[in-house]
Amino acid sequence: MHALGIDIGGSGMKAAPVDVATGKLLAPRQKIATPRPAVPDAVADVVKQLTSAFSWSGPVGITFPGVVTDGVTRTAANLDRSWIGIDARALFSQAAGDPVRVLNDADAAGVAEMTFGAGMGQKGTVLMLTFGTGIGSALFTGGLLVPNTELGHIEIRGHDAETRASERAKELHDMSWGKWAGRVDEYLQHIEALLSPHLIIVGGGISKESEKWVPRLTGIRARIVPAALLNEAGIVGAAMATSSEVALDTSGASGMGS
Ligand code: BGC
Repeated sequence: MHALGIDIGGSGMKAAPVDVATGKLLAPRQKIATPRPAVPDAVADVVKQLTSAFSWSGPVGITFPGVVTDGVTRTAANLDRSWIGIDARALFSQAAGDPVRVLNDADAAGVAEMTFGAGMGQKGTVLMLTFGTGIGSALFTGGLLVPNTELGHIEIRGHDAETRASERAKELHDMSWGKWAGRVDEYLQHIEALLSPHLIIVGGGISKESEKWVPRLTGIRARIVPAALLNEAGIVGAAMATSSEVALDTSGASGMGS
């Protein structure tokens, strides 16, 4: 089965058609800058442009950098606040002209890593963390996802963790690798105290330079590995979400019936 995956990030929106059975992109990905302000209609317009760019007709999966339950976006820490309470599934389905599945960006990346990347075959408690504009999380046990965990927002030293330890925080405060890795280590120690994962997969753009910071994370018992799919994990996970056979269908999981 083939599906178009679209990954909405704080700075760019990336898309590619994906073979859901193998996790391989069927064409080079295309990227369009995330509109500013990133309001729903402007973002939907880019979804339309990306769909047309591939002359796509068929299932479409879209990631969103916030909580998504039953296709409705519930938070927007790093996008325009007007997203809160929007029926993104309906909005994007109209823009794409096809049925759409919408899910949290880190959940999508995690599902892709568990199926085709660093988490393949891992049955214990696995935590995928993405370090980018914010910190995203995807929690698995026995290979099953607990959607919308939002562990980037735990409080550390009185602050939202992602404002101290995201990739953006590193850039914004011009932190050295050593200083930033120290903050990530402290963050992971808090997470480990709460969840005791067997494996932590670290992703996001900064995982491309994992050799500069992952070896410095010495205060953690869990095994820590960089993501294998790097920038493609979100696109692949988004596409996978269109097929309930390969990804957990979270619609109806909020207690509202199916
Ligand atoms: C959002 C999460 C998202 C993460 C990465 C956080 O600020 O609350 O939902 O997964 O950023 O984009």
